[in-house]
Amino acid sequence: MPPFTHHIFVCCNRREPGHSRGCCDPAGSEALRNGFKAELKRRGLGPLVRANSAGCLDQCELGPVVVVYPQGIWYGGVKPEDVPRIVEETVVAGRVIDELRIPDERLNCRPK
Ligand code: FES
Repeated sequence: MPPFTHHIFVCCNRREPGHSRGCCDPAGSEALRNGFKAELKRRGLGPLVRANSAGCLDQCELGPVVVVYPQGIWYGGVKPEDVPRIVEETVVAGRVIDELRIPDERLNCRPK
């Protein structure tokens, strides 16, 4: 079995309504992660690319958050309809989607 080529970590953290930081999956549905799983399966990428549900990735204000390794590309404000494009552009073609990318200077800039 070949090793995985990519891991897609999808924040599925859920917090109570009204929490000051919000959360990436207020409905607790894991819709985004399930969308990645379905898209990877549809494209036959399942054996090589893994979509993992993650706990809080500490970028809550920029969520829903997804990070793609090994490139370490952070995406924010990700919607289920963005999933096919992330798989196609980033996983398959190796390109960054600029309008979804969280710039390095915004990572770990939690409001005080
Ligand atoms: S709740 Fe998703 S990054 Fe914190």
